[in-house]
Amino acid sequence: MSSLSQKRIIVGVTGGIAAYKSPDLVRRLRDAGATVRVVMTANAEQFITPLTLQAVSDHSVHRSNLLDADAESAMSHIQLARWADAVLIAPATADFIARMAHGLADDLLSTLCLATEARVAVAPSMNQRMWQHAATRENVAVLAKRGVSVFGPASGSQACGETGPGRMPEPTELVESLSALFGSQALGGVKVLVTAGPTQEAIDPVRNITNRSSGKMGYAVARAAAEAGADVVLVSGPTHVPYPEKVRVIPVISALHMHQAVMTEVANTDIFIGVAAVADYRPAEFHQQKIKKTNDQLTIKLVKNPDILTAVAKSVKPPFTVGFAAETENLEAHAREKLMRKGIDMIAANRVGDADVGLESDENELLILDRMDTKRLPRSSKRQLARNLIEEIATRYCAKSTSKNIRRAHR
Ligand code: PMT
Repeated sequence: MSSLSQKRIIVGVTGGIAAYKSPDLVRRLRDAGATVRVVMTANAEQFITPLTLQAVSDHSVHRSNLLDADAESAMSHIQLARWADAVLIAPATADFIARMAHGLADDLLSTLCLATEARVAVAPSMNQRMWQHAATRENVAVLAKRGVSVFGPASGSQACGETGPGRMPEPTELVESLSALFGSQALGGVKVLVTAGPTQEAIDPVRNITNRSSGKMGYAVARAAAEAGADVVLVSGPTHVPYPEKVRVIPVISALHMHQAVMTEVANTDIFIGVAAVADYRPAEFHQQKIKKTNDQLTIKLVKNPDILTAVAKSVKPPFTVGFAAETENLEAHAREKLMRKGIDMIAANRVGDADVGLESDENELLILDRMDTKRLPRSSKRQLARNLIEEIATRYCAKSTSKNIRRAHR
């Protein structure tokens, strides 16, 4: 089965001569099992008609006007952004790449690129001098750093009569590149349990102790595992992040509640990933009525919460167990100590305390450690980082499962 099977792809068409190849691209994506919706910029319509792309995609084409009330009532641009598993812009002109690099959102396609959580890829198509210009090189580098995939360009004779790099790759190659982006379904059929978000520890009916975790990292990990083909259960503390698609979510409030939900699910789990910022302590006593401010000082006694990660690693049939370590200093040393003390297979350490990375932010960077090795996953969006992390976990999980099976066969 193609990795594009049942995937929802937006093909963005911008105003380049290679737009004549877009209908063939749409047809080939559909042949590979994908559902395709096409979004055209106004300039693209100078090269190819919406009617052609409507016919090959079997859906009406989304045109550039962001303020089209009819189109918005059928499927708003935000719904469309959420609908997609991937956005492939082919052809992507130098102008469109520059607008993406600057985060412009002045038409439907550029807005989608900002609003989507899906993978985004561009297939550049332009004159070879435009491709080699420092401005384009810098714009492409910015996109690549943000996790946008760049397919091509190919080299050869160009519509303008020059020869060199700048041709959009052929539709068959673009389909292959997009398939590769969805990976080999490395976790196909594997059961993955993820925790995310903070926990809230109630003091009285109106107050609680919590932390700043937004849930973004944990949700990105759950989503990346689902993209890699896993059956994913997400045990989530209170967050404002939309639930990822194709993931079963169990909402919880407190650490005790999260512990109970995890221990109920763990027997049916192959991989456990603890991303939640679980409160280490909870108030010893819950006050049934709101505490009155009668005294100058108030002492709240705290008791320790169960360590969920350790409990999972010590369960009867432990899954491959991955923890996170949030540290403000000595990242590697503290993370390695946690890896050993909690008896887990792997840990992903991140620095917290800086405003623009880690906690609450849309970006993060990780240092991943197992018993043998340390590897750095450089700073990028949490979505992209989660995909890289899932690849690392899948490799180690498969290696461990294989060596277990070999040992069993020799018994
Ligand atoms: O949610 P975001 O805003 O996106 O931020 C993401 C994050 C910074 C919260 C995330 O990347 C992260 O680091 N999560 C772990 C936070 C944490 O609690 O770290 P810790 O070093 O205190 O705990 C180590 C590990 O033990 C974690 O896997 C944690 O889930 C687990 N733990 C901790 C306490 C406890 N009682 N039970 C646990 O299972």
